[in-house]
Amino acid sequence: MYHKRIYLDNAATSYPKPPAVLAAMVEYAGTCGASAGRGAYAEAQESARVIRDCRQKLARLFHGADPDHFIFTLNCTDALNLAIHGFLRPGDHAICTAMDHNSILRPLNDLQSQSHVSVTRVPAHGQTGLVDPSQIAAAIKPNTRMICIGHASNVTGTVQAIRQIGAIAKGHGIALLVDAAQTAGHVPIDVAADGIDFLACPGHKGLLGPLGTGFLYIRPGLERELATIRQGGTGSASERDVQPNFMPDKFEAGSHNAIGIAGLSAGLDYILERGVMALAEHQRAISGTFIEGVENVQGLKILGPQGVAHRVAVFSVRIEGVEPLELAQRLEHDFGILTRPGLHCAPGAHETIGSSITGVQDASSGTTRLSFGAFNTLHESQFAADALSSIALELAFSAR
Ligand SMILES: Cc1ncc(COP(=O)(O)O)c(C=O)c1O
Repeated sequence: MYHKRIYLDNAATSYPKPPAVLAAMVEYAGTCGASAGRGAYAEAQESARVIRDCRQKLARLFHGADPDHFIFTLNCTDALNLAIHGFLRPGDHAICTAMDHNSILRPLNDLQSQSHVSVTRVPAHGQTGLVDPSQIAAAIKPNTRMICIGHASNVTGTVQAIRQIGAIAKGHGIALLVDAAQTAGHVPIDVAADGIDFLACPGHKGLLGPLGTGFLYIRPGLERELATIRQGGTGSASERDVQPNFMPDKFEAGSHNAIGIAGLSAGLDYILERGVMALAEHQRAISGTFIEGVENVQGLKILGPQGVAHRVAVFSVRIEGVEPLELAQRLEHDFGILTRPGLHCAPGAHETIGSSITGVQDASSGTTRLSFGAFNTLHESQFAADALSSIALELAFSAR
């Protein structure tokens, strides 16, 4: 058993977090601890300040005009559910893509199965996973109300041409919902310039906050067209027994995960200080090292973009003669490399790239995924490439 651990499952959640994230959470728990808006004392006001501060940093990072339009959620799935269930109405048509995660596909299927909404799933290129924006344009119908798209695939790392798709959506007066689970903190996102109406993000992946955090950005004006999917206490307008209609309270029923938001706020500080352009460059450098290290190795295949363009550092690999689960186990046991095998909650992406699907997920399904984060080094990227190469070469040799 290899004792050093190299965490390459940042697409699931990032690890480690900057030390300041843990420090902010400890400080919150130790010196504040109150629930925002639930008391007149200084600690309750401090809790509100921590939350307000975090919203302001989100607005800075994603270029949102109004911090109150960043709604805190449990995770990215929760944000996507709010946007999809809250915005689509009976009779509407929505467009998504074959590369999308189940947290887009399942809410849409749920609405479709109740015959409320019709859905078109636009295919993607079988090798790169790229969606052709003109195919999205071609799928638009008179009743299309929303385009839902994952910015980057959590299977192949493919980054979609979001700005072009945003322009198409705008040209047709259709709302664009972007799932930035794999790009927030790794790739610059500008909600205004990219034409994004709803931006769903986890706080716990590239933004380096703790699990249990996420947000939905709602373009100013659209909050009037977005129904709540949850109602309850907000600490505001308590004389009325109906949900307030002002932001952000309309969509934030119940006590906040203030301790998590304190951590997320410190994660955002890290990103704003290091700069998202520098983090994007880091993803590119990691990707370049990894791709160079595995290319031309017999029996070893990266699925998805073969170069550093149009991708983040999320890699799906297969090695001939070894199932994805077994490969993940060998990487952990022999090299201390932590990866994720399987279908990664994105069955359409695996269908697109042709990784084996046996109907029910089992050890042979999908791929083994290696996903790199802000704290992985070029050395680790090279080490992972070398580990895969040595497994592939050993298998190729023993098969002779
Ligand atoms: C592309 C994509 N969308 C959505 C999600 C859901 O994120 P969360 O776990 O924060 O709900 C994930 C999680 O892996 C993802 O990769």
